[in-house]
Amino acid sequence: MSLLQRSRSLLLASAVAGVVVASGFALVGTAEAATTLGASAAQTGRYYGAAIAAGRLGDGTYTGILNREFNSVTPENEMKWDATEPSQGRFTYTNGDRILNQGIAMGAKVRGHALLWHQQEPGWAQSMSGSALRSAMINHVTQVATHYKGKIYAWDVVNEAFADGGSGARRDSNLQRTGNDWIEAAFRAARAADPAAKLCYNDYNTDGVNAKSTGIYNMVRDFKSRGVPIDCVGFQSHLGTSIAGDYQANLQRFADLGVDVQITELDVAQGGNQANIYATVTRACLAVARCTGITVWGIRDSDSWRTGENPLLFDNSGNKKAAYTSVLNALNAGGTSSPSPSISTPPSPSTSTSPQPGGGCTATVSLNSWTGGFVASVKVTAGAALNGWTVTVALPSGSTVTSTWSATNSGTTGSVGFRNVSYNGQVAAGGSTEFGFQGTGAGPTATPVCTAG
Ligand code: G3I
Repeated sequence: MSLLQRSRSLLLASAVAGVVVASGFALVGTAEAATTLGASAAQTGRYYGAAIAAGRLGDGTYTGILNREFNSVTPENEMKWDATEPSQGRFTYTNGDRILNQGIAMGAKVRGHALLWHQQEPGWAQSMSGSALRSAMINHVTQVATHYKGKIYAWDVVNEAFADGGSGARRDSNLQRTGNDWIEAAFRAARAADPAAKLCYNDYNTDGVNAKSTGIYNMVRDFKSRGVPIDCVGFQSHLGTSIAGDYQANLQRFADLGVDVQITELDVAQGGNQANIYATVTRACLAVARCTGITVWGIRDSDSWRTGENPLLFDNSGNKKAAYTSVLNALNAGGTSSPSPSISTPPSPSTSTSPQPGGGCTATVSLNSWTGGFVASVKVTAGAALNGWTVTVALPSGSTVTSTWSATNSGTTGSVGFRNVSYNGQVAAGGSTEFGFQGTGAGPTATPVCTAG
């Protein structure tokens, strides 16, 4: 979005928000308001997505709504373990690729769902345990994340690993029985395979501050403190006829840990309150700067896994429901803008800032490290407008850069220079851009130096 368009959107958002306060209903259908979910969410830098099924892509009503309304897609089943590795070591990506290609054709973000889940394990994995299962699980993560490398906006690396009820503990499963570190091992394998994808933990019944969400919160806080690479938390939000009063506060407490949050599988039982609950969820995401987007779990009621509950935004014939209008109005009312950094920013010990060269540029490095490797995400911020930049990073002895994205590096050890590529050399005054690199050994600890020109 250009600066001009952005200011126009913000102006519009403020104007519409004013109408909401003054009159109790939102202004839609004006010449200015966005008229689709994706375009409206994009006004604040967010996406609005849908879970889609490869088997429905031949249905013209379905794809008509999909292409018109959404700017993100999630495969409902096609990238799960049973779909992608039906027998051990034999990978099938046909249907997963159909979803990916649909997303690419739409110019949409593709959320990957889900690398590891105790449900929809293929039969061969269900009967495994111990170190054999641990190896198979890591191989699965590595193979699938490598196949989709560079194409996935965010992966649900691990899905639904916490128990329901008041314990706040992990759920029992054959994956959990391989050792409590199975989740962090999966995140490290995913990062090594696709350093550019945001890596999410995803779960349900986490729609407020409760024992389960607090168990997950504690895990994320621990991961961040130890440098386990986690970038986001998905809140599935399969909702009934009410919503927790602290839904937004719960999103915010996770965001405050330094991860993005996303609403990943939203659907709401059809009752008197459906439209209101959809609007409440939308407003909560818009109010949290690190809430980067919302995905509904299907398009029409007839596409939903919740048979008979009519929980989606379009009826069986593809008509917009009242819930659709309430979501669009809430999106058009605006909210915080979501900067959506490509990789999360960990707490300060692993972040360093270069000295401010007057009018030049600065660079900050965020590190996700593990034994033997690291991924560095670098944010370049312009003082005056930049027409090209170079960031020089001093690597510790024994460390080597193995891959770089959104920059080109000269050298791989010692003092390594990272030069802009064609599309990110020009940065407006005060603006920023990002690049990243992966390496073996320890990550950089010294202050990077940014040079303009
Ligand atoms: O494709 C086969 C079909 O060939 C066969 O005839 C039919 C007979 O039952 O089954 C079909 O597969 C079904 C598949 O959905 C595709 O429709 C599976 O049985 C069924 O179990 C599967 O359900 C999926 C469910 O995950 C599995 O637990 C739902 O579509 C999907 O919406 C649901 O999604 C999950 C998320 O991944 C995680 N969070 C919860 C969410 C809802 O359960």
